[in-house]
Amino acid sequence: MTGVELDGATRHRADAAGGTAGHARIAAHRGYEIGARMAEHLARRDPRPVSQGEVVPSARRPFDNFPSFIARAEGAYLWDVDGNQYVDFLLGYGPVILGHNHPEVQSAARRGLDEGVCQAPFWSPTQVQLVERLATVVPGADMSFILRTGSDATSCAVRIARIATGHNTVVRAGYNGWHDWCNPFEAGIPEAVREHTIVIDVNDVAALERAVASVGDDLAAIVTMPYEHEIPDRVYLGRVADLASASGALFVLDEVRSGFRVALGGAQELLGIRADLVCLSKAMANGYSISAVTGRADLLSLLKETKVSSTFFANRAEQAAALATIAILDDTRPFDRIAALGSRLMEGLNSVLSAASVPAELIGHPSSPYLQVGDEAEPHFAIRLAERCALHGVVIHPAHQWFISAAHTEADIDRLLEAVSTSVRERTR
Ligand SMILES: Cc1ncc(COP(=O)(O)O)c(C=O)c1O
Repeated sequence: MTGVELDGATRHRADAAGGTAGHARIAAHRGYEIGARMAEHLARRDPRPVSQGEVVPSARRPFDNFPSFIARAEGAYLWDVDGNQYVDFLLGYGPVILGHNHPEVQSAARRGLDEGVCQAPFWSPTQVQLVERLATVVPGADMSFILRTGSDATSCAVRIARIATGHNTVVRAGYNGWHDWCNPFEAGIPEAVREHTIVIDVNDVAALERAVASVGDDLAAIVTMPYEHEIPDRVYLGRVADLASASGALFVLDEVRSGFRVALGGAQELLGIRADLVCLSKAMANGYSISAVTGRADLLSLLKETKVSSTFFANRAEQAAALATIAILDDTRPFDRIAALGSRLMEGLNSVLSAASVPAELIGHPSSPYLQVGDEAEPHFAIRLAERCALHGVVIHPAHQWFISAAHTEADIDRLLEAVSTSVRERTR
């Protein structure tokens, strides 16, 4: 938060309204009075100390009738500062696989904190336990390096690939982070850096083949998400593996979003594939900031030849949270249930949309479906739908995947179906 002052009464109202967790019926929407005041305050204040980018999404989000400021989160639910409760299908862009504020993960993280926050350059036993655990659950995770963010992990994998091959060029697919080699925008990134990356769409085999052919003998790695909005395609991923190997390059699987979400061993386990290096983050620690590059030991050992380092990589609370999250995922194996909830959502929602002749459908893997909207839909259909759903107590993202956690229930899915159904009816009035 950025120092917004609320008077006592409104703060109390916001806190009190967040008090009831669980499956209670979501109360009538109270509006966005406090959130709007906070946004207004931010807009008015001296902008210098506050980034106007993603750090303050309200400053550039394209829609108004949507919560901006969250007071607290529990299980599958969020409460905004106005006291409105929502079923959360954003889950922090995916990490919160067990539901918000999971007691065992929180206790593990607190124990980690009690042992001290930052002890660089020393390791903790927790770090050793974590990389040993990764070796048992992630296919091919002979050796792992722990970092903090998804972008850390993908950039580290690319560095390793360049050292291993002596080549520079990367063919990449999907979102791989914000660092220079993979940023989706050109501003601020030297042409000399951009010219070493070729971007293709996930699952586009023809584009993949063209890109690899165009690189000649300078291919360091093919970095791809196993799937994004698409249905995972073994043919595409098999071709990535073959072309990387035939070019003397590495197959880097970016499982930052899919890891610990579709199976304990991620998409590698789900699809029966094997990459040279795998990047993990998001669902690995139920929302704590941690990532890993994992894979062949001979490749990970090349990190000795470079510097990939942060004062904070070895912080142990996040490592403890990751160990607890992985243990719970291993014990409870919620993956099929999450996928079944997602299938219920996709089938239900697609039939609501088709009955109302709305040219849109949910596509992709059921644990993280994506609303694809046809060109012939009304302008800003997805944004208007997200706004209406928020008024009915459900938050969905208009332009990103929706995420389902182990804390969601069929009742939560049905609430979203009801919200979409009502929203579509309201729209046609
Ligand atoms: C597949 C994938 N790779 C990399 C990243 C970057 O991770 P971070 O935002 O933690 O830097 C993301 C983030 O959304 C992602 O989904």
